[in-house]
Amino acid sequence: MKKSVAGFRWRHSVLAGLMLITANALAGAPENEAELKNFVIQDCGSCHGLKLKGGLGPPLRPEDIASLPALAIAAIIREGVPGTAMPPWKALLTDPQIAWISQQLKSGALLAPEHADLQSR
Ligand code: HEC
Repeated sequence: MKKSVAGFRWRHSVLAGLMLITANALAGAPENEAELKNFVIQDCGSCHGLKLKGGLGPPLRPEDIASLPALAIAAIIREGVPGTAMPPWKALLTDPQIAWISQQLKSGALLAPEHADLQSR
């Protein structure tokens, strides 16, 4: 009797795990501006630094990317930089999302004090 209860629990937790994985995959792509902001700070920030001051990847503050036009930045985000740790993001982000991120990076809007809550996470 005990065994079948354990068996049920095991199958149940595998099922719950699978549902979680599916939910995460579906939730993977940021859907709105707040999610996109979080995404840039967390995902891009994991390499470029939570304050975009650089880490494994170069710093991305407006002064650091002054020589890169927004379109060039968008192309880098879309395609990545082959042969480096910078991955392509086109499978996860739409062109409008990529354009939005490029503009945020150029303007430094995500580094403004009103987004300090994002950076301290
Ligand atoms: C796994 C680490 C990693 C992640 C995650 C990552 N990058 Fe990068 N990124 C890099 C590296 C390394 C480079 C430098 C590539 C090179 O040597 O030219 C780079 C380069 C760049 C550049 C060009 C900077 C310059 O001055 O030439 C931009 C713009 C950029 N990344 C934006 C982003 C954005 C936006 C995200 C999130 C969507 C992101 N990166 C996520 C590692 C990463």
